[in-house]
Amino acid sequence: MAKVNRNYRKLPGSYLFSTIGKKVREYSEAHPEAEIIRLGIGDVTQPLAPKIITALHAAADEMGRAESFRGYAPDLGYSFLRETIANKDYQERGCSISADEIFVSDGAKCDCGNIQEIFGIENKVAVCDPVYPVYVDSNVMAGRTGDYDPDTGRFRDVIYLPCTEDNGFTPGLPWEVPDLIYLCFPNNPTGAVMTRAKLQQWVDYANDHGSVILYDAAYEAYISEEGIPHSIYECEGAENCAIEFRSFSKTAGFTGLRLGFTVVPKKLAVEGEALHPMWARRHGTKYNGAPYIVQRAGEAVYSEEGQSQIRQQIAYYMENARIISEGLKKAGYQVSGGVNAPYIWLRTPDGLTSWEFFDQLLARAHVVGTPGSGFGPGGEHYFRLTAFGTRESTLEAMERIQNL
Ligand SMILES: Cc1ncc(COP(=O)(O)O)c(C=O)c1O
Repeated sequence: MAKVNRNYRKLPGSYLFSTIGKKVREYSEAHPEAEIIRLGIGDVTQPLAPKIITALHAAADEMGRAESFRGYAPDLGYSFLRETIANKDYQERGCSISADEIFVSDGAKCDCGNIQEIFGIENKVAVCDPVYPVYVDSNVMAGRTGDYDPDTGRFRDVIYLPCTEDNGFTPGLPWEVPDLIYLCFPNNPTGAVMTRAKLQQWVDYANDHGSVILYDAAYEAYISEEGIPHSIYECEGAENCAIEFRSFSKTAGFTGLRLGFTVVPKKLAVEGEALHPMWARRHGTKYNGAPYIVQRAGEAVYSEEGQSQIRQQIAYYMENARIISEGLKKAGYQVSGGVNAPYIWLRTPDGLTSWEFFDQLLARAHVVGTPGSGFGPGGEHYFRLTAFGTRESTLEAMERIQNL
């Protein structure tokens, strides 16, 4: 008789954004006149930049001609894109990453969910608390986390790294040595960043203890301050202990187009076994490549015109972030993030739980955000707003919140 993967039963409740969607739907049905502003899900609102659209059209035309038609893409990505990424994202920043260490994919979510497959089931995983849920849930599904403890809101075999106001929402080194360490900076959900010096401590720690860092840099394009690393490979020795994930979603508005990549340095080995060929094998077996036209669009992001256009979009969102941060501060909220990341992390007022605040904000301001507790117990009494709305809706949301 067939058996299900019982690890799935350990996953508590429904996916955070489905719960939010259900609550908003129910509220809308009961109050059809309410004009709801959504600053919850981290999805972009600006259209793709003209340079990217031109590249998509040109690539689509190529696909319609026998002499330039392309079928399956190379498993690891077209070299025109991998070379461009290696050069612009890494070599120009002084990181010695080459094109053959880059694996192009359809986005960072799949890669950071799938990467755990190349590691043994007995690895001990560490995550930040609060955390982007994919890192935890993908390890739950694989059977690496132990059971969920409803009293603590934590899985018994996972090491949680508290990210609190006291440590600026960046974790200190753990007391128990993890084998796999998920770090994400600039951070979703807190909007915090890690300085190069602090990230270097983590890299040194991982190299000293034989741990691997799984570094999610999906929001690096939003870094505005000096001294904040865009890549973990800006730290010395990171090629020996770290895998990095990147996404075009928030950098260039590809949430619907789908494109990302993962860097697995050739030097990176565990138990004397290189991880690069393992990930290549996994990628080649289970994945058939991002579409040609999307990879051409990705290449266009790095052109001079593409860079100038996406910089304008990022500046637009970061102006929203400024409006939200300042608006909330004026209204008396305690706020962080929003400077090097498109997320604003605020403390709920009057000791309200994250979900109580969610309900209150929806009912009284018709503004939707994301309850911090949805990202782990460390997010309780916090709330996340995103800068990805339109300017008009962002201004309107702040006006409503200030008038509460
Ligand atoms: C931290 C983090 N990593 C990865 C992703 C997913 O990116 P992609 O759209 O490339 O799958 C997101 C999306 O919200 C994210 O917040």
